[in-house]
Amino acid sequence: MLAIPASFPPGFLWGVSTSSHQFEGGNTFNQWYDWERAGNIRTGDSCDLACDWWTNAERDLDLCAALGLNAIRISLEWSRLEPAYAHWSDAAVIRYREIIRAARNRGMRVFVTLHHFTHPRWFEARGGFLNDNAHQLFRHYCKRAVRTLGDLVTDWVTFNEPNVYTAFGYLFGDFPPGRVNELNSALSVLSAIMRAHGEAYDEIHRQQPSANVGIAVHYIAFEPARDHVLDRQLVATYDALFNRSVLLYLQGEPLPLPFAMMASATHHCAGKIDFIGLNVYNRLYVRAPFGEKPVGPGGLYVPRGVPQGDSATNSSYGEACPRVVCPAVEAYSALDRPIYVMENGVPDHADRIRPWLMVNSIKEVRRMWQQGHDIRGYFHWSLVDNFEWSEGWRLRFGLYELDRTTGERIARPSAEIYRSIIADNGIRRETLELWENAPQSPELDEMPGISSTD
Ligand code: BGC
Repeated sequence: MLAIPASFPPGFLWGVSTSSHQFEGGNTFNQWYDWERAGNIRTGDSCDLACDWWTNAERDLDLCAALGLNAIRISLEWSRLEPAYAHWSDAAVIRYREIIRAARNRGMRVFVTLHHFTHPRWFEARGGFLNDNAHQLFRHYCKRAVRTLGDLVTDWVTFNEPNVYTAFGYLFGDFPPGRVNELNSALSVLSAIMRAHGEAYDEIHRQQPSANVGIAVHYIAFEPARDHVLDRQLVATYDALFNRSVLLYLQGEPLPLPFAMMASATHHCAGKIDFIGLNVYNRLYVRAPFGEKPVGPGGLYVPRGVPQGDSATNSSYGEACPRVVCPAVEAYSALDRPIYVMENGVPDHADRIRPWLMVNSIKEVRRMWQQGHDIRGYFHWSLVDNFEWSEGWRLRFGLYELDRTTGERIARPSAEIYRSIIADNGIRRETLELWENAPQSPELDEMPGISSTD
């Protein structure tokens, strides 16, 4: 048998990540439904039937099986399970049981996220995570989820990307509730989410002592634009606040000053973590906006000439950057827990740059594993094109293209590349050689590096 130069340990998990609102369709009881109806999607799109999973997730689970996946990450829609306060839907439980069973029957270990950006309208109306009782309301929902699905699931992700949820909802105004530059609220929400994580961790373990309970964090490589002390300082601030705040909470350490003064205590969730999920996509450049007009919000931008996928409506999605895997893994290895790369991908309708991004990100995962980091799986974002939040259907992340008129799934070349990596449990030399260099990106101008409301 041919030796595979970049091979992975037996049992390594190969998956795709998905989320309820972006895939299920017909979620009309959550805050995103209202946000869409209020005209906040830049493309004017709405989620509608999404990928139609509520009716037919099985069609896409067949595609997962054909790719050879041995894992999948889905999320539960709290607003389906509890559409009105304290009213629980048995029908939703029945459908989730079908979907999870269908994935398991196709050979996949199922990781279930409990909160992936969406929650019930009634919860949002009470202030979301700014409500003093948010942690109890969330714990109650988790309790119910584990009681009704716990015989089928033991891998739980409490929250997807508390850092993105708070930054986009309270600093950039891209996500509901659409607040802008409210640093105090952002930090209060982050603290409340970490408190809710800690309580959910205890609740899940109370019911399932052997459960694996983790959280997924988005990690961005921030790069100083110039060799300038102010750029480096701003990079350090973004790194501490965006990349490492969840880590600090889990370590029971305070945020750096002055931010520690704005966030509440960190002791609620210290040590309450069985694995960490890392969502790694981009690099952004930082140019401190002192005495000049900012190049982008907060001085974040993407320079001309770097590898990029498709652009968002008013900004670059970011530099596609396989090497982000490394600082993310190095930082979170401090927790001394298993690591899963829980999301990695690029918006790329034409599949121009995705194969390069995917092959080289997986190569970096292997490099980090060889260096002794306990990395146990890689999940691609995502299987099929799906509803990309404020960008609607503009940004296409699927290994399969979705034809929204016919519902047809059309394999992009990346699907076959991923299938063969999974079949080999490694990357063949010819694949590594073929995708060694990033394909040319169109000559985009320097662009702001993050979506913003202005
Ligand atoms: C989110 C996904 C999103 C993906 C691509 C991640 O930060 O968890 O919901 O679709 O990025 O932008």
